[in-house]
Amino acid sequence: MAVAAAAAVAEKLSELIFSGDDDGWAAAVPNLQKNLTVLSPEQIELAKMLLLEGQKHLFEHWPEPGVDDGKKKDFFEQVARLNSSYPGGLSSYIQNAKRLLADSKVGKNPYDGFTPSVPSGQVLTFGDADFIRLEEAGIKEARKSAFVLVAGGLGERLGYKGIKLALPIETTTGRCFMQHYVESILALQESSCRLAQDQHQSEIPLVIMTSDDTHTPTIKLLESNNYFGMKSTQVILLKQEKVACLDDNDATLALDPNDKYKIQTKPHGHGDVHALLYSSGLLNKWKQEGIKWVLFFQDTNGLLFKAIPASLGVSVTKGYHVNSLAVPRKAKEAIGGITKLTHTDGRSMVINVEYNQLDPLLRATGHADGDVNCETGFSPFPGNINQLILELEPYIEELNKTRGAISEFVNPKYKDSTKTAFKSSTRLECMMQDYPKSLSPSARVGFTVMDTWLGYAPVKNNPEDAAKVPKGNPYHSATSGEMAIYKANSIILKKAGVQIADPITDVFNGQEVEVWPRVTWNPKWALTFSDVKRKVNEACSVSQRSTLVINNSNVILDTLSLDGTLIANEVEVKLAGAVQNKGWVLQHVDHKDSSNPEEIRIRGFKIQKVEQLELNHV
Ligand code: UTP
Repeated sequence: MAVAAAAAVAEKLSELIFSGDDDGWAAAVPNLQKNLTVLSPEQIELAKMLLLEGQKHLFEHWPEPGVDDGKKKDFFEQVARLNSSYPGGLSSYIQNAKRLLADSKVGKNPYDGFTPSVPSGQVLTFGDADFIRLEEAGIKEARKSAFVLVAGGLGERLGYKGIKLALPIETTTGRCFMQHYVESILALQESSCRLAQDQHQSEIPLVIMTSDDTHTPTIKLLESNNYFGMKSTQVILLKQEKVACLDDNDATLALDPNDKYKIQTKPHGHGDVHALLYSSGLLNKWKQEGIKWVLFFQDTNGLLFKAIPASLGVSVTKGYHVNSLAVPRKAKEAIGGITKLTHTDGRSMVINVEYNQLDPLLRATGHADGDVNCETGFSPFPGNINQLILELEPYIEELNKTRGAISEFVNPKYKDSTKTAFKSSTRLECMMQDYPKSLSPSARVGFTVMDTWLGYAPVKNNPEDAAKVPKGNPYHSATSGEMAIYKANSIILKKAGVQIADPITDVFNGQEVEVWPRVTWNPKWALTFSDVKRKVNEACSVSQRSTLVINNSNVILDTLSLDGTLIANEVEVKLAGAVQNKGWVLQHVDHKDSSNPEEIRIRGFKIQKVEQLELNHV
């Protein structure tokens, strides 16, 4: 139906609805009119709203009252949920969809009138005096922070059967992402309270945003592991709802192909986290409790907490309202660039511009070569890794205005160039990093760039797709995610003075990776570079084939010379002298070989534990 025709129908309905005739308004849809007796007054109001928004097709197939009445009520229960979970309700959703679909049809450029430039921010150099100072400032402030983990994603690209949070971050210990995140937050809490001599022992809240796809398994993972040592009251789950699918440019709501009493729904994206936090009331509660910072992070970045202390230190020292964590970005690399956009009308903002929009934007604004590297060998626009640190007070002020609504987009796959029909239904989506789009130019929005090896190794891609990634680009697979942990820990020990053997290269699941000594430690052993330096004596060495697992806080690497596997579980131990054994060996595994569990297959190797020295509690 053409937009003009739909508007005419809506106008007619509006006349009927407001005519004062009790149910004459429903005459436009006789099958609905017959069923009004089945519905509650609230449901009738929702029906009116749907008709006004041009959705009468939802009722045209409804049978006589008495047939499927339960399903009709269920239908309205779903409509009520969709209505209450979207800022402004379902009618706003439909109107926003009509506007965005019309913009998409004419190919409107969202950045029309804007000129890009490189914003200002902080570049971290791991281990230098500034870095150490920022880490200390961050640790001091950590007890006044809250963490928000967005974990409602389907993980379609990875294709893992479980939730991503349950995947091992690495397989020497088998600790999963959830365990690592909880233990990192607890270690931060302890360290921060100790440094601030906080007798009161502040607790850092952890919010986890789930969805229908991840909610139950997330609770199960936490409960069956005793919340990995965190108090259960410290963890808050907020479930995001999906949004209605749309069949055409008129934002006609799509019915579920398998159930004509159900509107088809799909995920709305991680941008939902802002509206959920706003409506939960948590932000004001946190403010009263003295919390100052909210840190947003994602489900599978095993390196993130290595960069958290210094990045929080940047927020504190620079007074950033918004601090986007970033890594150096190669031109045309498939991650968004953090960009300052200045409009001809004077507006300006610092936001993430998706990589496929950055190149045309640059070309259209006088940069003939588009998205290219500068003299550093990298794009001047830092690569956004979607981990944000927000200052709580300005965040609350902004959400009081927006109710957490985030700028949305729509990405319909059109059947042909007329852009009149879709290949399959679409929906509106939103991204958490678009939060700064609505901020005033006076908001202090900056970024913190860290080395990729230190802060960014997500697990997003399945083995087949990762193997197809062009050489030199990151795989973002379970293989690369695990190897990145060993690499980061090895480099940190090396910078602290330990002699660490050079890595070798090997190929797992078709991906060539560097294999460093398998060094892992529990976050309570060390959170910062200063912690590591305090616990490490320079006269130590670790060979490439070695595995070193540190599971407790008071382990000192004294004069250790390791060539094999050493597991230090003891509370207090000085690791000294030569340790040599057959060690643990990395065995290649074919990702199609179903005799191994999926967690192993997706990384392409398993650890054969041949011989080790294990130091346990006495
Ligand atoms: P990803 O970009 O990794 O998306 O999300 P995804 O949905 O998990 O995976 P694909 O695209 O289907 O392969 C980044 C982060 O945002 C969360 C994810 O759980 C992940 O931590 N997310 C994503 C949500 O919380 N909700 C969403 O609707 C989408």
